[in-house]
Formats: sequence, structure tokens, C-alpha cells
Amino acid sequence: MTACIVGWAHTPFGKLAGETVESLVVRVTNEALLDAGIAAKDVDEIVLGHFNAGFSAQDFTASLVLQAAPDLRFKRATRVENACATGSAAVHQGLKSIAARSARIVLVVGVEQMTATPAPEIGRNLLKASYVREEAGIDGGFAGLFGKIADSYFQRWGDQSDALARIAAKNHRNGVGNPYAQLRKDFGYAFCREESEKNPRVAGPLKRTDCSPVSDGAAALVLSDVDTALKLGKAIVFRAAEHVQDFLPMSRRDVLKFEGCALAWKRALAQAGVALSDLSFAEVHDCFTIAELIEYEAMGLVPEGQGARAIADGTVTKDGVLPINPSGGLKAKGHPIGATGVSMHALAAMQLSGRAGDMQVKNARLGGLFNMGGAAVANYVSILERLR
Ligand code: COA
Repeated sequence: MTACIVGWAHTPFGKLAGETVESLVVRVTNEALLDAGIAAKDVDEIVLGHFNAGFSAQDFTASLVLQAAPDLRFKRATRVENACATGSAAVHQGLKSIAARSARIVLVVGVEQMTATPAPEIGRNLLKASYVREEAGIDGGFAGLFGKIADSYFQRWGDQSDALARIAAKNHRNGVGNPYAQLRKDFGYAFCREESEKNPRVAGPLKRTDCSPVSDGAAALVLSDVDTALKLGKAIVFRAAEHVQDFLPMSRRDVLKFEGCALAWKRALAQAGVALSDLSFAEVHDCFTIAELIEYEAMGLVPEGQGARAIADGTVTKDGVLPINPSGGLKAKGHPIGATGVSMHALAAMQLSGRAGDMQVKNARLGGLFNMGGAAVANYVSILERLR
């Protein structure tokens, strides 16, 4: 236990007309510092998670954080990128600086602006996070890639359309309570299950309701060492933080096993000295419903090939044994690539401090989160607990 989350900020996710990468970064930076009760001059290091890959003409964005306050000038600031896990990569980088005692207070910001980009370019930009040599030709962008994964899963384990629709319906229902969510509508199981004009097929067996939306948004955290945290208003401690990176080409692994995800959970639970059953909730990476289904298996909730059981028997619903994505997940909340991992940590911190409002899980004590880049290539698990 070397570091805590002591403050956070979160913009609404969605199509944020009038905002820019810079305005989003500045907004969450100031709000997170205020929330933590930390002055800009006391920040030792800044880490920005920003995927970009063509979404914004402004690359080299680390110093945009300095635009928030004159006192941030001359601080160490670095941008990190690890595809859809960019946000968690930034958080874990901050933890390393605190563990190495090269920083006492780290400001972590995650941001993405996607909706200003024309639709065909969005798919092309996202596919830069695939193994381009073999996978960039897949139709339908990342949805096409996960459509193929869903097809393969159905071939191996049978048609899972019911389970995918149940996952979509669960996350949309949970998202109604999330004030930051892009889609705050309870679509219901029947709508998610049926292909229709309003819910067309996107790729393979995946329909629109099986996909996370295209989003703008930002989130920020203030991290500190435990001694500093104990003097502040809130302290959510990291019981574990694990990062497992797998081969990039899907052809080099059995992609239906999400082995990197499984290993990251195994190591994180061991590091925290807890079992999965000790968790009060988990926020997991449902970029597509098929991903959440496979993650049930990889995290050890159900045996391989039986992901559907966890949703059919209510295990993962908000009042279930292990509520998964009480925030509505990426599915309802939105998925501004670089912001997502930071958002997951902020939402987990809200749950553990009892500040999650209508998203609140009863007696939330210990929370887990899994953020993934690519198809289980970059795998980050954090386990968090309230200290004060
Ligand atoms: N789930 C549910 N509803 C969605 C949605 C989604 N993912 N995306 C859009 N909608 C809704 C919109 O709110 C809109 O509703 P309205 O008619 O009531 O206003 C309607 O569907 C049409 O929106 P539009 O933006 O035209 O949809 P689209 O068909 O162009 O885009 C997807 C839908 C699924 C193709 C798009 O969201 C997408 O590409 N998602 C995947 C993004 C991705 O790959 N991220 C990286 C993951 S690793």
C-alpha cells in the first residue's frame, strides 16, 4: 500500500460540442485539484493519458495540463499511451513515481475527443491499436475485430446472443444512474436482443447495443503517498495494481481466452491478498458486450465457455453477488479512449467513498477494475479500498 487516490474529477462523456482536448484537460485538472484540496504548486509530477492516433491535430499534449494553472509550469509532465488502456497506463505510471519516492503528489489526467472526427476516420484511427500488418484491413473498425471474436466464440461455445443482450441491458439500466454517462436510457432486454432499424447489426453478431459509443470526455485523479493522504479529506488506497502486456497479433494467441486479463486479475488478487468473492463490485472493460462476457471467465467468476451463466443467474447485476459495471460501463458511460481508465478509477473511488449517488453499491468496501487495450493486449487491474 504505497499510494492513494485523494481527489478526482469527471466531465460528462458524450458529444461535447464546444469543448477541445485542451478545454477538457484544463477543466478536470482544476476540478480534481480542488476536490483533493491540493494546490497546483504542490504537484510533483503530471501524467496525461491521451491516445489520439489522429483524432486531434494537436499531438504532444502533456503540456496542455500546464494551461490549467501557472503554478504547474516547470513540473515534470509526460503523456503515456497504451490503446484503450491509456488511462490506466497513466494511473499506474503515477503510482510508480510515488512508489519510487520521486513524487509525493501526482496529477493524472485522461482525455479524448473523438466525435469531431468523420466516421470512416474514427474506424481507421482506432484500428491503429490493432496489429496493423494483419488486422487493419478488417471491415468495421474495432467493432469488426470484436465481431470476429464474437463469431469465433459462438462457434466454440454456441450462440450467446441472449447473454450479450442481457449484458447490454444491464449496463444501460445501470447507466441511468450515472450523471456522467453518454447514454442514460434503460433500453431493456427485448430492444437489445432484437435486430431492428434502431438497433442494426454492426459487425458479425454484434448490434449497435453491443458496442460502446464514440465519445468525448476527460477524467482526472490526484494521487499521493499514504502519509500525505491520511492528512487529506479522502483516501482510497491501492491494494494492488497489475499490468500484463500480451502479444499484439491475435494470430499468436487464443484470443477467446483473454489470457493477459486472467493473469492480471490473478496477480492483482494475490498482491492484495484477497479473493474475487471479497470484492464489493468491479468496473470492467465492456468496449463490446462480448468482451465483458469473456472477462467473466478470465477473472475467474465462471469457468471458460460459461460466461453467460454469470449474467443469466444475476451474479453481476447491481444487487447481485458481484455487481459488474454499476456505472453502466463503457457501454452506457461512453469510451473516450484516453479517459476511460482514469474514469474507471474515479468511479471506483466514488463508490468506495460512498459518493456514487444513484450508482452506489451498498456497503462498497473493496472494488476491482479491469481496463484493456486492444483485444486483451494491454491488461490493467487495480484493486482499491477506502482508507478514510
Ligand atoms: N449503443 C447504443 N446506442 C447508440 C450507440 C451505441 N454504441 N451509438 C449510437 N447510439 C444511438 C445514438 O444515441 C443515436 O440515437 P438517437 O437516434 O436516439 O439519437 C443513434 O444510435 C444513432 O447514432 P449514430 O451515432 O448515428 O450511430 P452509428 O450507427 O453511427 O454508430 C456505432 C454506432 C456502434 C457504429 C458506433 O457507436 C461505434 O463505432 N462504436 C464503437 C466504437 C469503438 O470501436 N470504440 C473502441 C472500442 S475498442
